[in-house]
Amino acid sequence: MKRYLVIGNPINHSLSPELHNHWIKQNGLDAIYEKKKLNNNDLADLILSVKEENINGVNVTVPFKNAIIPYLDELSNEAKKTRSVNTIYLKNKKVIGHNTDIEGFEKAIQKINFNLKNKKIFILGAGGVVPSIIYASIKMGFSEIMISNRTERKAEEVKNIFNNIKLVNWGETPDFDVIINATSLGLNQSDKINLNFNKVGKNKLFYDVIYNPSETNFLKSGKKLGNKCENGKLMFIYQAFSAFKLWHGIEPSINDATLKLLDR
Ligand code: ATR
Repeated sequence: MKRYLVIGNPINHSLSPELHNHWIKQNGLDAIYEKKKLNNNDLADLILSVKEENINGVNVTVPFKNAIIPYLDELSNEAKKTRSVNTIYLKNKKVIGHNTDIEGFEKAIQKINFNLKNKKIFILGAGGVVPSIIYASIKMGFSEIMISNRTERKAEEVKNIFNNIKLVNWGETPDFDVIINATSLGLNQSDKINLNFNKVGKNKLFYDVIYNPSETNFLKSGKKLGNKCENGKLMFIYQAFSAFKLWHGIEPSINDATLKLLDR
Protein backbone atom coordinates (compact mmCIF):
# COMPACT_ATOMS: atom_id res chain seq x y z
CA MET A 1 0.00 0.00 0.00
CA LYS A 2 1.28 3.46 -0.88
CA ARG A 3 1.37 6.06 1.87
CA TYR A 4 0.89 9.80 1.53
CA LEU A 5 1.02 12.53 4.17
CA VAL A 6 0.24 16.15 4.76
CA ILE A 7 2.55 17.75 7.29
CA GLY A 8 2.13 21.02 9.17
CA ASN A 9 1.90 22.52 12.63
CA PRO A 10 -0.94 22.78 13.55
CA ILE A 11 -2.43 20.17 11.19
CA ASN A 12 -5.70 19.13 12.81
CA HIS A 13 -7.77 21.52 10.66
CA SER A 14 -6.41 20.14 7.36
CA LEU A 15 -9.05 18.73 5.01
CA SER A 16 -6.48 17.30 2.59
CA PRO A 17 -6.98 13.72 3.88
CA GLU A 18 -10.75 13.91 3.22
CA LEU A 19 -10.14 15.02 -0.33
CA HIS A 20 -7.28 12.66 -1.23
CA ASN A 21 -8.81 9.58 0.41
CA HIS A 22 -12.07 10.29 -1.45
CA TRP A 23 -10.19 10.30 -4.77
CA ILE A 24 -8.07 7.27 -3.76
CA LYS A 25 -11.25 5.30 -3.10
CA GLN A 26 -12.99 6.59 -6.21
CA ASN A 27 -10.08 5.41 -8.36
CA GLY A 28 -9.64 2.06 -6.56
CA LEU A 29 -6.04 2.81 -5.58
CA ASP A 30 -4.17 0.85 -2.92
CA ALA A 31 -3.11 3.89 -0.91
CA ILE A 32 -3.77 5.93 2.20
CA TYR A 33 -3.37 9.64 2.91
CA GLU A 34 -2.81 10.80 6.50
CA LYS A 35 -1.99 14.00 8.36
CA LYS A 36 0.93 14.45 10.71
CA LYS A 37 1.95 17.26 13.02
CA LEU A 38 5.72 17.74 12.85
CA ASN A 39 8.40 19.98 14.28
CA ASN A 40 11.39 21.43 12.44
CA ASN A 41 13.69 18.71 13.77
CA ASP A 42 11.48 15.98 12.21
CA LEU A 43 11.94 17.22 8.63
CA ALA A 44 15.21 15.40 7.87
CA ASP A 45 13.74 12.01 8.90
CA LEU A 46 10.61 12.66 6.91
CA ILE A 47 12.57 13.24 3.71
CA LEU A 48 14.63 10.11 4.42
CA SER A 49 11.36 8.14 4.54
CA VAL A 50 10.45 9.52 1.12
CA LYS A 51 13.88 8.51 -0.22
CA GLU A 52 13.45 5.00 1.20
CA GLU A 53 9.94 4.85 -0.27
CA ASN A 54 8.24 4.30 3.08
CA ILE A 55 6.29 7.44 2.23
CA ASN A 56 5.36 7.99 -1.42
CA GLY A 57 4.36 11.63 -1.39
CA VAL A 58 4.00 14.55 1.00
CA ASN A 59 1.94 17.72 1.02
CA VAL A 60 3.45 20.53 3.03
CA THR A 61 1.52 23.26 4.74
CA VAL A 62 2.17 26.11 7.21
CA PRO A 63 4.84 26.62 8.57
CA PHE A 64 7.09 24.28 6.54
CA LYS A 65 6.60 25.31 2.90
CA ASN A 66 9.92 27.15 2.94
CA ALA A 67 11.65 25.33 5.83
CA ILE A 68 11.52 21.99 3.98
CA ILE A 69 13.59 23.27 1.03
CA PRO A 70 17.14 22.56 2.40
CA TYR A 71 16.25 18.85 2.81
CA LEU A 72 15.20 18.30 -0.82
CA ASP A 73 17.38 17.15 -3.73
CA GLU A 74 15.72 19.26 -6.41
CA LEU A 75 13.08 21.93 -6.82
CA SER A 76 10.76 22.59 -9.75
CA ASN A 77 11.07 26.06 -11.30
CA GLU A 78 7.80 27.07 -9.62
CA ALA A 79 9.05 26.01 -6.18
CA LYS A 80 12.41 27.69 -6.77
CA LYS A 81 10.93 31.02 -7.79
CA THR A 82 8.30 31.18 -5.03
CA ARG A 83 10.59 29.59 -2.40
CA SER A 84 7.59 27.52 -1.47
CA VAL A 85 7.04 23.73 -1.63
CA ASN A 86 3.65 22.15 -1.03
CA THR A 87 4.12 18.82 -2.85
CA ILE A 88 6.98 16.32 -2.59
CA TYR A 89 7.64 13.21 -4.66
CA LEU A 90 10.45 10.84 -5.58
CA LYS A 91 11.78 10.75 -9.14
CA ASN A 92 14.89 8.78 -10.22
CA LYS A 93 15.79 8.35 -6.54
CA LYS A 94 15.73 12.11 -5.98
CA VAL A 95 13.33 13.88 -3.64
CA ILE A 96 11.70 16.70 -5.60
CA GLY A 97 9.81 19.69 -4.24
CA HIS A 98 7.07 21.29 -6.31
CA ASN A 99 4.47 24.01 -5.79
CA THR A 100 0.88 23.25 -6.88
CA ASP A 101 -0.59 26.31 -5.10
CA ILE A 102 0.20 28.24 -8.29
CA GLU A 103 -1.92 25.96 -10.44
CA GLY A 104 -4.55 25.91 -7.69
CA PHE A 105 -4.95 29.66 -7.84
CA GLU A 106 -4.74 29.83 -11.64
CA LYS A 107 -7.38 27.14 -12.21
CA ALA A 108 -9.69 28.58 -9.54
CA ILE A 109 -9.60 32.06 -11.08
CA GLN A 110 -10.04 30.70 -14.60
CA LYS A 111 -13.13 28.77 -13.49
CA ILE A 112 -14.81 32.00 -12.47
CA ASN A 113 -16.65 33.60 -15.31
CA PHE A 114 -14.64 36.82 -15.26
CA ASN A 115 -12.70 38.33 -18.14
CA LEU A 116 -9.09 38.75 -17.00
CA LYS A 117 -7.70 40.50 -20.06
CA ASN A 118 -5.77 43.70 -19.21
CA LYS A 119 -7.02 43.60 -15.66
CA LYS A 120 -5.37 44.93 -12.52
CA ILE A 121 -4.97 42.64 -9.54
CA PHE A 122 -4.55 43.89 -5.97
CA ILE A 123 -3.24 41.36 -3.42
CA LEU A 124 -3.60 41.86 0.34
CA GLY A 125 -0.95 40.14 2.45
CA ALA A 126 2.65 39.00 2.05
CA GLY A 127 2.54 35.60 3.77
CA GLY A 128 3.49 32.14 2.53
CA VAL A 129 0.93 31.86 -0.27
CA VAL A 130 1.44 35.29 -1.85
CA PRO A 131 4.46 34.46 -4.08
CA SER A 132 2.38 31.62 -5.58
CA ILE A 133 -0.52 34.00 -6.28
CA ILE A 134 1.86 36.48 -7.90
CA TYR A 135 3.55 33.76 -9.99
CA ALA A 136 0.12 32.66 -11.25
CA SER A 137 -0.97 36.27 -11.85
CA ILE A 138 2.09 36.92 -14.01
CA LYS A 139 1.33 33.73 -15.96
CA MET A 140 -2.29 34.77 -16.44
CA GLY A 141 -1.21 38.11 -17.91
CA PHE A 142 -2.65 40.68 -15.52
CA SER A 143 -1.68 44.16 -16.72
CA GLU A 144 -0.79 45.34 -13.23
CA ILE A 145 0.03 43.47 -10.01
CA MET A 146 -0.14 45.38 -6.73
CA ILE A 147 0.46 44.13 -3.20
CA SER A 148 -0.15 45.62 0.20
CA ASN A 149 0.79 44.31 3.61
CA ARG A 150 0.52 45.59 7.17
CA THR A 151 4.24 44.98 7.66
CA GLU A 152 5.78 46.78 4.70
CA ARG A 153 9.16 45.06 4.96
CA LYS A 154 7.53 41.71 4.17
CA ALA A 155 5.75 43.16 1.14
CA GLU A 156 9.09 44.51 -0.06
CA GLU A 157 10.71 41.10 0.30
CA VAL A 158 7.98 39.58 -1.88
CA LYS A 159 8.19 42.42 -4.40
CA ASN A 160 11.94 41.82 -4.74
CA ILE A 161 11.40 38.24 -5.92
CA PHE A 162 9.48 39.44 -8.96
CA ASN A 163 9.69 42.26 -11.54
CA ASN A 164 7.13 45.01 -11.92
CA ILE A 165 5.16 44.54 -8.73
CA LYS A 166 3.73 47.73 -7.26
CA LEU A 167 3.67 48.29 -3.51
CA VAL A 168 0.60 49.94 -2.00
CA ASN A 169 0.63 51.37 1.53
CA TRP A 170 -1.44 49.32 3.95
CA GLY A 171 -4.82 51.00 4.35
CA GLU A 172 -4.92 52.48 0.82
CA THR A 173 -7.27 51.18 -1.85
CA PRO A 174 -5.98 51.70 -5.42
CA ASP A 175 -8.02 51.19 -8.59
CA PHE A 176 -8.27 47.44 -9.28
CA ASP A 177 -10.35 44.85 -11.14
CA VAL A 178 -9.57 41.85 -8.96
CA ILE A 179 -8.79 41.97 -5.24
CA ILE A 180 -7.42 38.99 -3.32
CA ASN A 181 -7.48 38.58 0.43
CA ALA A 182 -4.38 36.51 1.19
CA THR A 183 -4.12 37.65 4.81
CA SER A 184 -5.30 35.52 7.68
CA LEU A 185 -7.91 38.17 8.50
CA GLY A 186 -11.26 36.46 8.14
CA LEU A 187 -10.37 33.12 9.69
CA ASN A 188 -12.36 34.40 12.68
CA GLN A 189 -15.85 35.32 11.56
CA SER A 190 -15.62 38.68 13.33
CA ASP A 191 -12.33 39.75 11.63
CA LYS A 192 -12.60 42.92 9.58
CA ILE A 193 -10.05 44.30 7.12
CA ASN A 194 -9.70 47.99 7.73
CA LEU A 195 -9.93 49.14 4.11
CA ASN A 196 -12.30 51.59 2.55
CA PHE A 197 -14.12 49.95 -0.37
CA ASN A 198 -16.64 52.78 -0.88
CA LYS A 199 -14.98 54.04 -4.07
CA VAL A 200 -14.42 50.57 -5.52
CA GLY A 201 -17.67 50.39 -7.47
CA LYS A 202 -19.20 47.23 -8.89
CA ASN A 203 -18.41 44.39 -11.25
CA LYS A 204 -15.01 43.65 -9.75
CA LEU A 205 -13.91 40.28 -8.45
CA PHE A 206 -13.42 39.82 -4.72
CA TYR A 207 -11.51 36.60 -4.03
CA ASP A 208 -10.69 35.29 -0.57
CA VAL A 209 -8.10 32.54 -0.13
CA ILE A 210 -9.99 31.57 3.06
CA TYR A 211 -12.81 29.04 2.54
CA ASN A 212 -13.74 28.36 6.15
CA PRO A 213 -15.77 30.43 7.04
CA SER A 214 -17.24 30.32 3.54
CA GLU A 215 -18.11 34.02 3.50
CA THR A 216 -15.70 36.35 5.27
CA ASN A 217 -16.55 40.00 6.02
CA PHE A 218 -14.23 40.86 3.11
CA LEU A 219 -16.47 38.90 0.71
CA LYS A 220 -19.61 40.27 2.35
CA SER A 221 -18.52 43.87 1.74
CA GLY A 222 -17.62 43.07 -1.88
CA LYS A 223 -21.02 41.49 -2.43
CA LYS A 224 -22.88 44.41 -0.84
CA LEU A 225 -21.30 46.75 -3.38
CA GLY A 226 -22.38 44.56 -6.31
CA ASN A 227 -19.18 42.66 -6.99
CA LYS A 228 -18.51 39.04 -7.90
CA CYS A 229 -17.28 37.10 -4.85
CA GLU A 230 -15.54 33.73 -4.46
CA ASN A 231 -13.92 31.95 -1.55
CA GLY A 232 -10.76 29.82 -1.61
CA LYS A 233 -12.42 26.42 -1.84
CA LEU A 234 -11.59 25.80 -5.49
CA MET A 235 -8.00 26.96 -5.03
CA PHE A 236 -7.62 24.39 -2.27
CA ILE A 237 -9.25 21.67 -4.37
CA TYR A 238 -7.13 22.42 -7.44
CA GLN A 239 -3.83 22.39 -5.55
CA ALA A 240 -4.83 18.92 -4.30
CA PHE A 241 -5.95 17.94 -7.84
CA SER A 242 -2.49 18.78 -9.20
CA ALA A 243 -0.70 16.90 -6.41
CA PHE A 244 -2.93 13.85 -6.97
CA LYS A 245 -2.23 13.92 -10.71
CA LEU A 246 1.51 14.18 -10.09
CA TRP A 247 1.56 11.20 -7.67
CA HIS A 248 -0.96 8.87 -9.27
CA GLY A 249 -0.99 9.96 -12.92
CA ILE A 250 -4.77 10.33 -12.73
CA GLU A 251 -6.90 13.48 -12.97
CA PRO A 252 -9.43 13.12 -10.14
CA SER A 253 -12.97 14.32 -10.67
CA ILE A 254 -14.23 17.57 -9.16
CA ASN A 255 -17.98 17.81 -8.70
CA ASP A 256 -20.61 18.71 -6.09
CA ALA A 257 -19.63 15.72 -3.94
CA THR A 258 -16.00 16.92 -3.90
CA LEU A 259 -17.07 20.44 -2.91
CA LYS A 260 -19.27 19.01 -0.14
CA LEU A 261 -16.29 17.24 1.45
CA LEU A 262 -14.96 20.64 2.47
CA ASP A 263 -18.12 21.84 4.20
CA ARG A 264 -17.50 21.74 7.89
P1 ATR B 1 3.19 33.74 7.40
O1 ATR B 1 3.56 35.20 7.51
O2 ATR B 1 3.75 32.89 8.49
O3 ATR B 1 3.40 33.17 6.04
P2 ATR B 1 0.45 33.76 6.80
O4 ATR B 1 -0.69 33.27 7.62
O5 ATR B 1 0.72 33.16 5.48
O6 ATR B 1 1.69 33.69 7.74
O7 ATR B 1 0.31 35.34 6.58
C1 ATR B 1 -0.45 36.12 7.35
C2 ATR B 1 -0.76 37.39 6.58
O8 ATR B 1 -1.87 38.03 7.18
C3 ATR B 1 0.38 38.38 6.63
O9 ATR B 1 0.42 39.09 5.44
C4 ATR B 1 -0.04 39.26 7.81
O10 ATR B 1 0.48 40.54 7.81
P3 ATR B 1 1.88 40.88 8.55
O11 ATR B 1 2.97 40.47 7.61
O12 ATR B 1 1.83 42.34 8.78
O13 ATR B 1 1.88 40.08 9.82
C5 ATR B 1 -1.53 39.32 7.59
N1 ATR B 1 -2.25 39.67 8.82
C6 ATR B 1 -2.47 38.88 9.90
N2 ATR B 1 -3.18 39.54 10.83
C7 ATR B 1 -3.39 40.79 10.35
C8 ATR B 1 -4.04 41.97 10.84
N3 ATR B 1 -4.64 41.98 12.05
N4 ATR B 1 -4.06 43.07 10.05
C9 ATR B 1 -3.47 43.08 8.85
N5 ATR B 1 -2.83 42.00 8.32
C10 ATR B 1 -2.79 40.88 9.05
